[in-house]
Amino acid sequence: MSNESITSVLKEARRFAPSKEFSERARVSSREDYERLYKESLEDPETFWRRESADLVFREPWKETSREKGGKGPAKFPFVEWFVGAKLNVTESCLDRHMSTWRRNKAAILWEGELGETRTVTYAELYRETIRLANALAKLGVQKGDRVAIYMGMIPEVAVAMLACARLGAVHTVIFGGFAAEAIAQRVADSQAKIVITQDGGYRRGNVLALKEVVDRAVSQPEAKSVEKVVVFRHLGERGPHVHMTADRDVWWNDIVEESIAGPAKEATIVDAEHPLYILYTSGSTGKPKGVLHTTAGYLVGTHVSFKYAFDARDEDVYWCTADVGWVTGHSYLVYGPFSNGATCVMYEGAPNYPDWGRFWSIVERWGVTTLYTAPTAIRAFIRQGEAWPNKYDLSSLRLLGSVGEPINPEAWIWYNEVIGKGRCPIVDTWWQTETGAIMMSTLPGAVFTKPGSTGLPWFGVEPAVVAKDPSNPSGYREVDANQGGLLILKRPWPSMLRTVWGDDDRFKKQYFSEIDGVYFTGDGARKDEDGYHWVVGRIDDVLNVAGHRIGTAEIESALVSHPAVAEAAAVGRPDDLKGQALVVFVTVKPGNKPNSDLAGRLGDHVANEIGKFAKPDQIRFADALPKTRSGKIMRRLLKDVAAGRTATGDTSTLEDLAVLSKLASDKYEE
Ligand code: WT7
Repeated sequence: MSNESITSVLKEARRFAPSKEFSERARVSSREDYERLYKESLEDPETFWRRESADLVFREPWKETSREKGGKGPAKFPFVEWFVGAKLNVTESCLDRHMSTWRRNKAAILWEGELGETRTVTYAELYRETIRLANALAKLGVQKGDRVAIYMGMIPEVAVAMLACARLGAVHTVIFGGFAAEAIAQRVADSQAKIVITQDGGYRRGNVLALKEVVDRAVSQPEAKSVEKVVVFRHLGERGPHVHMTADRDVWWNDIVEESIAGPAKEATIVDAEHPLYILYTSGSTGKPKGVLHTTAGYLVGTHVSFKYAFDARDEDVYWCTADVGWVTGHSYLVYGPFSNGATCVMYEGAPNYPDWGRFWSIVERWGVTTLYTAPTAIRAFIRQGEAWPNKYDLSSLRLLGSVGEPINPEAWIWYNEVIGKGRCPIVDTWWQTETGAIMMSTLPGAVFTKPGSTGLPWFGVEPAVVAKDPSNPSGYREVDANQGGLLILKRPWPSMLRTVWGDDDRFKKQYFSEIDGVYFTGDGARKDEDGYHWVVGRIDDVLNVAGHRIGTAEIESALVSHPAVAEAAAVGRPDDLKGQALVVFVTVKPGNKPNSDLAGRLGDHVANEIGKFAKPDQIRFADALPKTRSGKIMRRLLKDVAAGRTATGDTSTLEDLAVLSKLASDKYEE
């Protein structure tokens, strides 16, 4: 973590109090109320979680709040169990429970396609569609515990597909629609998915994405041989690409679902609290993506309670989370959190700038969005296009704004607050991760004042700390003083935490609990100020956050070295005004290859083919050699400086050859 970034956040001292009207109605109205609840959540978790999950459907109540996996006594890292003994199916909380109430005919999803067509899906319809698909999947042989991959765009059926899996106790693994065939095959292989659910195609920025075709390429690879069936939802139909159906393997969703819901899935498959709910692949510090495993009861409770409080959720709200369902935000705050609360959610298929930069704001106006949850990278993109776009629309329905995914720079925060929120709407900045499953810190709306760029206070049941390693302490660390930078750790297990890395308990232990023995290391650097507010600086491991997409540098490097022209590659982040971080790669070529712009173009395409377009490097720089330590490790810290145009700072004493560095900085092949 550089001193520079810490000081830049230190300068921010503005505070914004929530309006009296908002606070008076808020679920939590003051810092004192928050402190009381927070204290209870730590000191008496049983009472706290029992009360807060009272709306959820448990077929059998839990007997123990948490424990060490298979052991006795309270939960202890790394392997934990929550709500031990509970039996449930998450879809009964998300769907069935609304059927006997007025919410039966309440809108669950207000959908808008990129071309402007709209659909309203009520809870009763979502319930029916889920059971119809679950029945069909059961007929195809999907059983409790089987893995099902989902490769779809932002259409209501993606939620149906996820819920249908959950209905059967099958484990979904949603693969973001921007991933390329290779990346799908890798995830299918790791999860041993039996079925892939996809759609003919979808729209993005006016173009048709041929999703089924990408799946065809993925499942034809030998490593994806676990796949028995591909289920295809007809979304574009005549407007879409020609879809080739492979006999005995591919079936149309629309053909296999029956009209009646009388079938095996009418009754949900009741599972244990710790039954796997889903796997979501995310980038880490090694080349292979990690399958983050979330289980049933803890995840449901975590997302349910956090949705309710973080968004101060009301039945009359129209909530819009702009995240793609392929990322964790889409799982927790587009599906499980909102549906278990009976919320009405806007779902938008396409790009924020299609047909123009007014699209988001026209959606807010048209649907009367009250709660908008989006990412700083989107806000920065809107800022560039000017205020005229949002000012063309009536945004007066908004009452709460949310931010997630990366640190929000104070300028973007202020713009969001003034231009979008008109100074009326609290901004809830939520810090969390794929691994945490649910929000871990926030500026709880109505309860506390906000500070631009701060993610505020710990969530209920969460005990973060900003620490420095200290081997002389029995704990292995010490908490640093207020306003000092340090490592962000979580000291105690929480309900929605990942349970393991799919199929790799050792990697789970090593990845999260070995930086400091026995506590969860987030990979982030942070500081805590005099008010107890947290300021997350960003990743300090080998993970980048490019335009809100999490990218592992090792993943990019292994994609690059799989190209025949590449000898070595190193990927680093460079500060970027729009994307937060830009991806810069340094490449050395094998003899006989010319390091020129043509090769750079081909390497960029290669990364797009191996991982996905979103992972294409922003800059490819060729080098004669990469700076290495005497033991042969690439010195990324130095490369970061070079990428940012800084003179290399810090210790270069272990550098093998200083000449490499000066050469890199003045690189003649720079693109
Ligand atoms: C990383 C996790 C949380 C869902 C989307 C991203 C960064 C996330 C914030 C925030 C500062 C944030 C962290 C974290 N991050 N939210 N509000 N302020 N940084 O999930 O892809 O697993 O990435 O995103 O660096 O470790 P993810």
